[in-house]
Amino acid sequence: MNDPELIHEINRLRKERDAVILAHNYQPPEIQEIADLVGDSFALSKAAAEIDRRVIVFCGVRFMAESAKILSPRKTVLQPAAGAGCPLADSVTVPQLRQARAAHPRAAVVCYINTSAAVKSECDICCTSSNAVRIARSVRKEEILFVPDCNLASYVAEAVPEKKVIPWSGSCAVHSRISSAGVAAARAAHPGAPLLVHPEVPAKIRNQADFTGSTAQIIGFAAGSDGREFIVGTEVGILEKLRSVRPDAAFYPLQGNLLCADMKKTTLQNVCDSLTSMKNEVKMPEELRQKAFVCLNRMMAAAE
Ligand code: 13P
Ligand code: SF4
Repeated sequence: MNDPELIHEINRLRKERDAVILAHNYQPPEIQEIADLVGDSFALSKAAAEIDRRVIVFCGVRFMAESAKILSPRKTVLQPAAGAGCPLADSVTVPQLRQARAAHPRAAVVCYINTSAAVKSECDICCTSSNAVRIARSVRKEEILFVPDCNLASYVAEAVPEKKVIPWSGSCAVHSRISSAGVAAARAAHPGAPLLVHPEVPAKIRNQADFTGSTAQIIGFAAGSDGREFIVGTEVGILEKLRSVRPDAAFYPLQGNLLCADMKKTTLQNVCDSLTSMKNEVKMPEELRQKAFVCLNRMMAAAE
């Protein structure tokens, strides 16, 4: 089938299966175009919990599809690109986390949503890049063990100086590619354009940026600004939405190598295939789901 035929078939199956298609801001343009909702990790989790449909087709990486299942166990959650993971999420395992918890018995354990369901099931509260600061402030304990992203941990530590934030050692390989030389080159090429970055960038890059926020917050910033040019320091998939909300503005990727290969594993073909045969369903043991739910649901309550 060619693309128009695939889209036609996806639309037919979406109705027949009572499905909603959720896509992350980094998904390929053709996937964002067919999605019912495109958003950041928090918006997609919230939508997964609230939307009244039998099936969720999650176009994103594993931890996102798992979070949808944790929050909405009665729905069938399909991840068309079943092999799409997040290396950052894989940088902390349950045995490692248990060891770290034992080494810091007074600390609350806050996990970034970029973690497996198994890790979430062992943490006190979850956060996304859009609410990490708020979640850290909401924690009663003075010490926070923050897993797995050390750059988001440093962002939180700077914003919440009253807490002692103990960072894990993980980082996102895509955002870690951003260099000071890249910033200098982009600023020289586009003088006066503000630099917008995701909090997964290294601290030295964040400190040179004009705005730091989640993918949805970056889009919100550009939408509400009267600027005409922006330098974008995050994964290139976000450019699709930025250009659609501000067709009058120019968006320049900070570097040419900011591509997350896992986010590009979703295709029109695998979306159509998963809806046709209801394959690539996200499943997990119910006991584990319930524990991970406590962690994620505390975030949903505190982030409102
Ligand atoms: P957002 O929650 O900001 O969309 O980020 C998710 C992510 O994986 C960033 O690399
Ligand atoms: Fe994971 Fe980085 Fe890809 Fe986000 S951009 S999904 S953190 S690897």
